[in-house]
Amino acid sequence: MIFKQLFDDDTSTLTYILADAVTREAVIIDPVYGQAGRDLEALEELGATLKYIVETHVHADHITGAKALKEATHAKFVSGKDSGLTCGDILIDEGEVMHFGNEVLYAIATPGHTAGCTTYRWRNRIFTGDALLIDACGRTDFQQGDNEKLYDSIQKILSYPDEFLIYPGHDYNGRRVSNIAQEKGINPYIAGVTKEQFIEKMNKLNLPKPAKIDIAVPANEYCGDADAAGINTANIPHSI
Ligand SMILES: [Fe+2]
Repeated sequence: MIFKQLFDDDTSTLTYILADAVTREAVIIDPVYGQAGRDLEALEELGATLKYIVETHVHADHITGAKALKEATHAKFVSGKDSGLTCGDILIDEGEVMHFGNEVLYAIATPGHTAGCTTYRWRNRIFTGDALLIDACGRTDFQQGDNEKLYDSIQKILSYPDEFLIYPGHDYNGRRVSNIAQEKGINPYIAGVTKEQFIEKMNKLNLPKPAKIDIAVPANEYCGDADAAGINTANIPHSI
């Protein structure tokens, strides 16, 4: 197995490359706009061929790097069935899988942060996007957010064995991995929190609007094609 975790400083986004050690077929999860050079270099170093570009959800905080990666590799763009995206290649449903070499990536529907949020499992590693973060979870106050659904989705993730690893979509405190036992035990949104308490807590968060939401969501609704979405790319810090 080949695994590489990458971090985008500007948006605190974690991107993951998974590859089969024999065939070198690869998957990238949640690439970031402007980081295609970094990602392609990493794939080349690994001798890997990108087969799937996989999104956990329609992000509000960054534009996906899918467009540049797709142009360079012709990999298939995959997002959750309920993301509603019409620009991608595959809308993946609960229980469906992607094969890369002899490896398998499983899709798990985890709505709540957004309607189409999808978590992916590879071996004992779970890529949760923003459904479950380390010591936190995604917000539910826009993009069809739903507290009740997010609570149920988090419980679904936590039903995996304690030792399974959690790889989130973001971390703002330098952390890079957690596991089921740790999140069950000390995540303040989960540990000892009932569904009713969770809903109340989420309703009271009162968070500021994400800085890039007005460009990120429209561009991501075009699978990262900022031009097609009418976004002025001069305002985006990265350049491809
Ligand atoms: Fe998000």
